Amino acid sequence: MSLVFASLDGGLRICVRASAPEVHDKAVEWASFLKAPLNPENPEQYFFHFFVEPEGVFVRDQEKRLLEIDFDKNHLDYERKGHRGKNELIAKALGVAKGARRVLDLSVGMGIDSVFLTQLGFTVIGVERSPVLYALLKEAFARTQKDYLKSYELHFADGLQFLKQNKGLLEVDAIYFDPMYPHKKKSALPKQEMVVFRDLVGHDDDASLVLQEALTWPVKRVVVKRPMQAEELLPGVRHSYEGKVVRYDTYVVG
Ligand SMILES: C[S@@+](CC[C@H](N)C(=O)[O-])C[C@H]1O[C@@H](n2cnc3c(N)ncnc32)[C@H](O)[C@@H]1O
Repeated sequence: MSLVFASLDGGLRICVRASAPEVHDKAVEWASFLKAPLNPENPEQYFFHFFVEPEGVFVRDQEKRLLEIDFDKNHLDYERKGHRGKNELIAKALGVAKGARRVLDLSVGMGIDSVFLTQLGFTVIGVERSPVLYALLKEAFARTQKDYLKSYELHFADGLQFLKQNKGLLEVDAIYFDPMYPHKKKSALPKQEMVVFRDLVGHDDDASLVLQEALTWPVKRVVVKRPMQAEELLPGVRHSYEGKVVRYDTYVVG
């Protein structure tokens, strides 16, 4: 996690803000979850502001840049038109032709890939370790009108711990992993969202350890999303499904 945006005790410099009485209880819950003060007297001292409003939750940074997740607004292309179904690279990489249907996404982030996979017909279990991203996602899943997202299973957990604790307990066909890449990568996010997102999430320096653990799971495939020019996260890629700016590196396990 990036230190610039962290307080001295390592926590994020974030506060929760809520003014409408009807969201007070929810704001208290999120403040406790995020270990952040609710409506502090000096909000300008906090780098991130987590707003709880009757219409939804969102984050603003000190520069007023906005980060929100709303699966129904579609500002981040959550409902993709004209997709190629089973011929989408991500579906091929995960082994849809070999019958893969249940996917564990270890890096839900803004949920763009997860939601797309769900739209393509996969059943997805998602893991996210950033408390703020988890809070945004949890609210977005609770609010969405899209029926196909109602059965999405979201976990607040560190991927490595999750893999260790759930090995042999979860039946999934494939594991999907899209860790942050330290260098510039063309992103699905518009610029202001990307800045807030990166500041919140920081680097995923443990990505190769997570992949190593994933490769011990009894799944058919583990797929890692990488920028086109990036090196492999670990050697042993069986096949790369290459798009214009990203590729899906596929490791075949069983
Ligand atoms: C590049 S973003 C993923 C974007 C996502 N695929 C999407 O479509 O929105 C990486 C996200 O994965 C999360 N992440 C990375 N490594 C993780 C891990 N080991 N456990 C849980 N979450 C992880 C980060 O917190 C961040 O939110």
